Amino acid sequence: MVNLTIDGRHIQAEEGSTLLSAARANGIEIPTLCHHEALMPTGSCRMCVVEVSKGGRTRIVTSCIYLAEEGLQVNTKSQRVQEVRKLVLQLLMARCPESEVVREVAKEMGVNPEPRFKTSKDKGKCILCRLCVKACESIVGVSAIGLSGRGQTKKVGGPFMEAPQACIGCGSCVYICPTGHIVMEDDGKGHREIWGKTFNMAQCRTCGRYFAPLEQLSFISKATKVPLESLMVCTSCR
Ligand code: FES
Repeated sequence: MVNLTIDGRHIQAEEGSTLLSAARANGIEIPTLCHHEALMPTGSCRMCVVEVSKGGRTRIVTSCIYLAEEGLQVNTKSQRVQEVRKLVLQLLMARCPESEVVREVAKEMGVNPEPRFKTSKDKGKCILCRLCVKACESIVGVSAIGLSGRGQTKKVGGPFMEAPQACIGCGSCVYICPTGHIVMEDDGKGHREIWGKTFNMAQCRTCGRYFAPLEQLSFISKATKVPLESLMVCTSCR
């Protein structure tokens, strides 16, 4: 265990744990956008910045990737921290002016809703947090989507920005996206649209509901060696 202080409170944290998890374990809330417990943190959004001091040196660090250290003094709400978070939000609002989530967080933090930077109209609600890419790669095991381009042109999508052939239509990227950028539509008649690809849905043999793309069930069947026929029942009926 390591001993540190967060907002003046003495805290003990497991060696190797991040400042974010140490703070949250002790009821100290730090705002995040790109953090998800199921995935390794990458420090993409910078919403979770905190101020750390040790040995007479003070600096701003990203709490979701910075590890707890013996004797560290952490301030999660200092003036400097608030200013950096506001700047991050102003940049995110310029990139994704349509994102309700970003606007809501900005409002909670008292950020002026008027854009400070030139706004972008073509990036949708994507904040480039990469949660969708990581979920597809390390949870689903498919790696259908990725980031392409650099700087201002960077965006998420299939290879060459075309419909990703490897996508199985599971929708994990939709569920994990913090801003609602990725759109998935089920028409209720056996089709699902996502990433520009149309999937045929399997019908539950008990209740008749369309419940999962056939491609996803085939993928699960191959991975688990469970016959496809045994997977043709929705989770409720199972
Ligand atoms: Fe830490 Fe996004 S939550 S950088």
